[in-house]
Amino acid sequence: MSADSRAPGPDHGATLISARPLAEYRGMFDLRDADLAGRILDCPGGGASFVAEATARGVDAIAVDPAYSRSAAELAPLVLEEVDRGNRYVIDNPDLYVWTFFRDAGHHRELRREGARRFAEHYALDPERYIPAELPDLPFADDAFDLVLSSYLLFTYADRLDDDFHLRALREMARVARREVRAYPLLDIRAVPYPRLDRLRARLGAAGVDSEVRGVPYEFQAGATTMLVLAPPNTRRA
Ligand SMILES: C[S@@+](CC[C@H](N)C(=O)[O-])C[C@H]1O[C@@H](n2cnc3c(N)ncnc32)[C@H](O)[C@@H]1O
Repeated sequence: MSADSRAPGPDHGATLISARPLAEYRGMFDLRDADLAGRILDCPGGGASFVAEATARGVDAIAVDPAYSRSAAELAPLVLEEVDRGNRYVIDNPDLYVWTFFRDAGHHRELRREGARRFAEHYALDPERYIPAELPDLPFADDAFDLVLSSYLLFTYADRLDDDFHLRALREMARVARREVRAYPLLDIRAVPYPRLDRLRARLGAAGVDSEVRGVPYEFQAGATTMLVLAPPNTRRA
């Protein structure tokens, strides 16, 4: 099954082009300063300011997303609209969230708008860092990145992305990662845990990709306190 970034889902609309700032990435992927080094892929990057903020810290960060086929003039206002669409979902479904990282829905909108602003500024300034491509096929060589981060596509959109897509996408990210792939969250948009995670991990293992479910120091979606960490086959060669 292919993944259309704007395909409608049964009850929560098209895949959101969200705009998380680095502070959220640090929490949801448990990123320490030592992790923010080398070459990092954000896949999908959406309207997140991870690449902008990481690059400002000297990290060689790149993002992939089908949304990057759009010009800066098209994408900047769209990402701001998407911040409001995501914010409305949060307001309409308050019980799906834990209000510790964000104080309330207003704070959520404020931080995401700042993420969108930084993203748009950097997208216009440094467009080579934003590659229009889509999982499960990435236009990079094996081991091209030290770390690959993947948030809010896999598992989140389990209503439209099937098990084979998840397997192919995770194997592809493991192919381009030298050290680790981290994927978060392991729940869907209704905060329901991905029901076939054990089977998916077994299939990854059979393909030579070891995996681990690791706790993270962040929770916004209720119960989203873990990430999936993949160790690509090459990490076991040494
Ligand atoms: C909810 S956003 C997540 C963005 C960012 N990682 C974050 O956490 O804010 C989901 C993104 O997935 C992108 N997308 C949809 N299908 C995709 C695919 N097959 N491969 C890569 N990205 C895809 C969408 O365009 C959208 O920007």
